[in-house]
Amino acid sequence: MTLLKVKDVTRRFGGLVAVDSVSFEVHEGTIKALIGPNGAGKSTLFNTLTGFDRPDLGSVTFDGTELIGRAPRAVVRAGVARTFQNTQLFNQMTAVENVMVGAQAHQGRGFSAAALRLPRAMAEDAESGREAARLLRLIGIDEWSGTLGGDLPAGIRRLVEIARALATSPRLLLLDEPAAGLNATETAELISTLFRVRDSGITVLVVEHDMGLVMEVSDEIVVLDRGAKIAEGPPRIIQKDPAVIAAYLGEEEPDDE
Ligand SMILES: Nc1ncnc2c1ncn2[C@@H]1O[C@H](COP(=O)(O)OP(=O)(O)OP(=O)(O)O)[C@@H](O)[C@H]1O
Ligand SMILES: [Mg+2]
Repeated sequence: MTLLKVKDVTRRFGGLVAVDSVSFEVHEGTIKALIGPNGAGKSTLFNTLTGFDRPDLGSVTFDGTELIGRAPRAVVRAGVARTFQNTQLFNQMTAVENVMVGAQAHQGRGFSAAALRLPRAMAEDAESGREAARLLRLIGIDEWSGTLGGDLPAGIRRLVEIARALATSPRLLLLDEPAAGLNATETAELISTLFRVRDSGITVLVVEHDMGLVMEVSDEIVVLDRGAKIAEGPPRIIQKDPAVIAAYLGEEEPDDE
């Protein structure tokens, strides 16, 4: 079943076409990767899918409902959660409190409003505390639950952000470069986390430059280059696709037109 349907999405910034009439689908229960060289339009596309930006053209339907025109909070309520390329945790809150903010946000508040309200909410709502603890265990980082966001190692910060996104009870999880800044051990943990998330019934769309991770976790890959989709298919096909190889070689050799 198609959970997310992206159709002809276009986003221009002045003369630059950052996302150029991109269409693809994400099937429920799968992990799909969105890859492409730096500046290909991956984060811009994520922003248009999650209410942080509005495309000039196109439609995005989630389980049949149009998402374009909805505010980020409404997109979360519809069942779509995301993380950002730059981690956005509250440094002065512990890991478990950061995740509780996600659970509170699900009840209709933005992250910031939920954070302000948290001390009272914690007393009122033992349920979101239990849920946050469960998610930290699911991700395998419960030993860090009492550590302040600002004191967490980079790799753990990324995983806490995933737990916080999961606390909004999404059906679709969008991750923007979750392996950035992770060492090999942390990346291996992230890979098993992604499988556990998928196996718990949550569909995943992941932007990532770590090709080892992409090839291992993806059921399907969609490739952008300079805003446009240049390939889509299973990892073994994408790996050998001449247009994909050329796009990545072009990135390494900027003089080569
Ligand atoms: N708000 C903006 N205003 C103007 N140009 C923008 C804006 N956001 C992105 N761009 C441009 O759009 C293009 C796509 O950027 P985007 O950040 O989506 O790429 P990306 O695929 O996520 O790259 P990376 O892998 O480096 O994160 C780039 O040329 C970028 O400079
Ligand atoms: Mg990006």
